[in-house]
Amino acid sequence: MERLDALLKKVENKTGDFMGYPVAKDFDIEELLPFFKYPLNNLGDPFVDSTYAVNSNEIEREVIEQFADLFQAPKDNWWGYVTNGGSEGNLYSLYLAREKYPNGIVYFSNSTHYSIRKNLHVLGMQCITIRTQPNGEMDYKDLHQTIAQHRNVPVIVVANIGTTMTEAVDDVITIKSILNDLAIQQNYIHCDGALGAIINVFSGKNKIGFHLGIDSITLSGHKFIGSPIPCGIALVTKANRDRIAMSISYTGSLDTTITGSRNGHSPIILWHALHKLGDNGLKQRVDKCLITAQYAMETFAKNGIPCWKNEGAITIVIPPQPVEIQQKWQLATEEFMSHIICMPNISREQIDLLVKEITQDGSKNFPIKEKFPFL
Ligand SMILES: Cc1ncc(COP(=O)(O)O)c(C=O)c1O
Repeated sequence: MERLDALLKKVENKTGDFMGYPVAKDFDIEELLPFFKYPLNNLGDPFVDSTYAVNSNEIEREVIEQFADLFQAPKDNWWGYVTNGGSEGNLYSLYLAREKYPNGIVYFSNSTHYSIRKNLHVLGMQCITIRTQPNGEMDYKDLHQTIAQHRNVPVIVVANIGTTMTEAVDDVITIKSILNDLAIQQNYIHCDGALGAIINVFSGKNKIGFHLGIDSITLSGHKFIGSPIPCGIALVTKANRDRIAMSISYTGSLDTTITGSRNGHSPIILWHALHKLGDNGLKQRVDKCLITAQYAMETFAKNGIPCWKNEGAITIVIPPQPVEIQQKWQLATEEFMSHIICMPNISREQIDLLVKEITQDGSKNFPIKEKFPFL
């Protein structure tokens, strides 16, 4: 199969180098390969067994329960499922928000992932974009002033628990206090924690969880945990999920998820990783990334490369790099910045090599230095 051999070679090559995307490469699914012989399908609601029994629902429930503990979900009032990724989780959460407040306005910052805007378009929801501070965090003054102009309309806020470009964390406590200050009783807070939610919990920042009064949180499974198949978690309050539950007579389950057929392999991959790591392993994984990030910051600085990162983040922002460097290291780049993300598999050698290539290229790598945040 020459065609596939060539593809495999290309994938191997490209996987070795990437540093700009938050995707862990160090998963080991050898033990799970026997499951790939079966057409696992977690059709419908993971908490309601359907007549299609070739599924991994019981494992999916355990995975969700583990995240419910991690994010301090209210006892007996949580629900969730394993999604195809962070974007689906965002779609699901916004769908629940819309069903609760059909005429609500959704507020999210300018640094928010593109899936939010797309999902709002699909759902036909009204929205207002809030200004962003230089570090990528929401501008709370703008949020306050903007909500104040629409006090008669329910408020749905999307808080980033790690923005895509700078891993900035929107402060849910401040958002809550704005809602209290304006006496907004009808509100829904969704947290998009695609990469950052787990990092936030285990780095000791603990700025996220249902104890803060949020309504939903989502993350990607293939990012910090790692999985060969894109996947994610949507965790919501059960009361909000109940509003949309409809029974489907031919499967015997409830139609509570976005898609009908659902991949039954991803829950097993996540379950396996979570059980191998345990809470200690997850904490060590976060610590390792933070140490690598510190090393990268020091190495960039020592070599005269402007850099900064948000506190507790593993994403390091550098000036936008020339196309050859962007492409080789797969560095996500916006107008004024490129970034590297110090995922668990990023080595010091790779950082040294990147630094060497950037410095060899000389000052042309910093063409718009004056616009680079914080310089
Ligand atoms: C903040 C944020 N939200 C959502 C997503 C989308 O996640 P996924 O690619 O798993 O759909 C990303 C992806 O990078 C992200 O950075």
